[in-house]
Amino acid sequence: MTPARAPIGVFDSGVGGLSVLRALRQALPGEDLLYAADSGHAPYGDRDAGFVTARALAMADFLHAAGAKAIVVACNTASVVAAAALRERYGLPIVAMEPAIKPAAGLTRSGVVGVLATAGTVASANVERLRREHAGGARVLLQACPGLVECVERGELDTERTRALLRRHVEPLLRAGADALVLGCTHYAFLAPTLREIAGTDVRLVDAAEAVARETVRRLGALREPGPRTGGERFVTTGALAPARERLSALWGRSVDVQALEAATS
Ligand code: DGL
Repeated sequence: MTPARAPIGVFDSGVGGLSVLRALRQALPGEDLLYAADSGHAPYGDRDAGFVTARALAMADFLHAAGAKAIVVACNTASVVAAAALRERYGLPIVAMEPAIKPAAGLTRSGVVGVLATAGTVASANVERLRREHAGGARVLLQACPGLVECVERGELDTERTRALLRRHVEPLLRAGADALVLGCTHYAFLAPTLREIAGTDVRLVDAAEAVARETVRRLGALREPGPRTGGERFVTTGALAPARERLSALWGRSVDVQALEAATS
């Protein structure tokens, strides 16, 4: 395989990173994309930094062994905790992400930005740095949202239970005047329609998927597939196969096959 023909590896703790995969597919139609969901170990958001770093390295090891020419960390939690360890281990472009605090600070009119993210992301030094350096005068309120990743993993995007949980996390931010909400976890992109109903159409929802896709294009440089061709997607998981097929197909918008990660390695 020529380096340009190799796939781009993408991983998340589960299905949430498909929101980033969608943006990558749009930006890079000729590339093959290999998506690895660590659903067997999701969620990462309530685990300590050692666990998240070990899982991120295991997922990246798989993608590296599978011949990926670049790795996109489609998970805020793994990015803010483990990006430095990943960059140290591999000589590949590693594209990591962070909650879109800077763009949201540019969009707010009320001067209040709410950030919805996992407990691990909210507690990370990287997010504190973003808040210090990129709030641009806006008040940035961080809200950990335990339970939401599990709702998306179960495919419950619009159930009463999910709505109640979303309301509980979002209403304090709205009451504090937030008119821009950062979706600081890739799973939450799939809750955007429900969130919009709760928050109203005047509130801006901001996520980082397109910025990550643009950064991936930039970092690929000469490694970019010269095309013209139509790239394909492959999906692997560390979780149970039948639910993975069902959830990934539903969120990707067409029926997809999913292999066990271990089987894909051998
Ligand atoms: N999609 C991951 C993120 O962006 C979810 C982390 C989790 O598994 O809790 O943070």
